[in-house]
Formats: sequence, structure tokens, C-alpha cells
Amino acid sequence: MSSIHLGVNVDHVATLRQARGTRFPDPVMAAWVAEQSGADSITVHLREDRRHIQERDLELLARTLQTRMNLEMALAEPVLRLAETLRPADCCLVPERREELTTEGGLDVAADLGRVREAVARLAAVGIRVAPFIDPDPAQVDACAAAGVRSVELHTGRYAEAADAAAQARELERLRQAARHAASLGFDVHAGHGLHYHNVQPVAALPEISELNIGHAIVARAVFDGLATAVATMKRLMLAARSP
Ligand code: PXP
Repeated sequence: MSSIHLGVNVDHVATLRQARGTRFPDPVMAAWVAEQSGADSITVHLREDRRHIQERDLELLARTLQTRMNLEMALAEPVLRLAETLRPADCCLVPERREELTTEGGLDVAADLGRVREAVARLAAVGIRVAPFIDPDPAQVDACAAAGVRSVELHTGRYAEAADAAAQARELERLRQAARHAASLGFDVHAGHGLHYHNVQPVAALPEISELNIGHAIVARAVFDGLATAVATMKRLMLAARSP
């Protein structure tokens, strides 16, 4: 079976720094430790309200990362321009509302096809691979194909927040079907949101999924275990789920 990559989201290292307005902890250092510990890419979300990641972090990460930068961003002109200059390897298009605690739902690509297509064309023109963050819905996958992308990130939030085992099994099935559909169209299929040490393996076992992006659980575990161990443990669980 093909392998699976771990993208470590270091936003919440920056959240802690911003809470006190200090220079530490530094998400750039966190990215370095994550890379040494098995991360295949580093994910950062430059939010409009700058609640965690700052431009300074992106500039330093762009110069120091040894793997790939996956920049999560809204469909907004200032951040689109910044991405065109920064040229991360990957951009994940996410919906963004100021008042949300975290990204709450997938991007409605079907409803916003024109704007997504235009953003994808601009980012692809400077060599960036674009993956819209969508709910696991075949209609959204089809809309992504119409928008000209060949990668998607499936939103695992409903799976992660399912109230009981039956609901979780239903959500896993939705993820499986959406992943199959996307893979049948030749897409790279990523997934993420709300994944943690106790729920990651059934998602990591889906053979069509080539990358998981995980932040909160890893940074939270790092408080007790250290970041290197937190990243290595997550990667080990993912690879174990993947082995036959
Ligand atoms: N993928 C996307 C598109 C996200 O917006 C987020 C949250 O920033 C994640 C993955 C990671 O989610 P979590 O922090 O719950 O692991």
C-alpha cells in the first residue's frame, strides 16, 4: 500500500506566543523540531485577524523549511498576493470567519466556482499546488475538478466530533466514498481537522489518502511529552494503520 504523509500544523505554537506577546514559543523552531521528528510538511494558516501566525513566521519558514510549506488561506486578495510572492509548495483554500474558534466547515467550491477557479489559476501560475478544504461530498469533489485543481483536503471534523460509534462509522464511510471518488479523478487526497491519537488510525487506513494535516492534538500532546515525541508518535500510528 502507498505511504502516508504527516503535515504538522504549528499554528497553536504561535497561539501561545501571541497570548503573551512574547518572542516564544516560536513556530519556526517548532517546525524544525517537527521536521526532525518525521513531519513531511509544515502547515500554517495566516488568518485575517493574525491571531496566531504572522507574516514574520511565513518569511522565516519560507527560508528555513527543509520539507514543504502548506499555507492555509482564505480566498482574499491580500493573502492571495502574499502567496504569489512567498510561493509555498502547497496552498489549502479554506473558508474563514473571524468569530470562529477554528475552521468550521469546508469551502463551498460548488457555490463559489468562479472565484476558486481564478485563485487556483493564479496560484498554479507560480507553481503552487492548490487543495481546497472541502466537506467529504462527491459534488464538492466534482466542483474542485471543474475549478481546475487536482488535490483536495477532506474535512474530518464531523468524523472527529461524532457523538457515538455509529455516527463516527457513518462519517468514516462518507470520507471513504469521497476519497475514492477524488482518487478516481486522479486527485491527491489529503484530510484533516480534529484528528488525534485515538481517532487517527481509521482515517489513516483509507488507502486513497496520501496526507493528513494535524495540529491541535500534536501541540497539546507536546505540553506533556515534548514536540519531538508527539510528532513521532503520531507518525508511527499513521504508518501502523497503513501497514497490511
Ligand atoms: N486542515 C485544515 C484545512 C485546517 O484548517 C486545520 C485547522 O487549522 C487542520 C487541518 C488541523 O486541524 P487540527 O488543529 O484540529 O488538527
